[in-house]
Amino acid sequence: MKKTIFSFGVLACLILSFCIPSGCFYDNEEDLYGTDTCDTTSLSYKTDISPILNNYCYTCHVANSGQAGATEFDSYSKLSPLLANVVIRLDDPFSPMPPTTSPSIPDCEKSKIKAWINAGAPDN
Ligand code: HEC
Repeated sequence: MKKTIFSFGVLACLILSFCIPSGCFYDNEEDLYGTDTCDTTSLSYKTDISPILNNYCYTCHVANSGQAGATEFDSYSKLSPLLANVVIRLDDPFSPMPPTTSPSIPDCEKSKIKAWINAGAPDN
């Protein structure tokens, strides 16, 4: 009889421990840090930077864009003298690039441009 009560107790404990929802909470990397971990290492002008500039800048910064004063920089040689200005204008609170009337550049793309410039703007 004692033994039956004991094993019933063990069984009850087991069942209870399955019912208590202590294990229903979980973290995963994506929820904690977002799906996109921005990789700013080993950036290439050709495969990383030029496509970003193409998406957010070349509507204006190419020949005959009709945008007065928008210096052309759709090639490495045209871009290289402007790097310091690019860094300034990406974070310029008064006249940011791209202008507020254009689609804004995501933080990660912005960080990539700056990281590439900080790494010496390799023509790669
Ligand atoms: C909607 C058109 C437009 C877009 C898109 C745009 N720009 Fe501009 N940008 C201009 C115009 C117009 C000027 C000249 C007037 C001024 O300086 O504000 C300019 C000026 C600049 C200058 C200063 C030029 C110089 O000769 O020193 C830099 C640097 C610059 N833009 C970088 C960028 C970058 C980087 C992007 C993309 C992330 C971008 N712009 C997107 C229109 C644009």
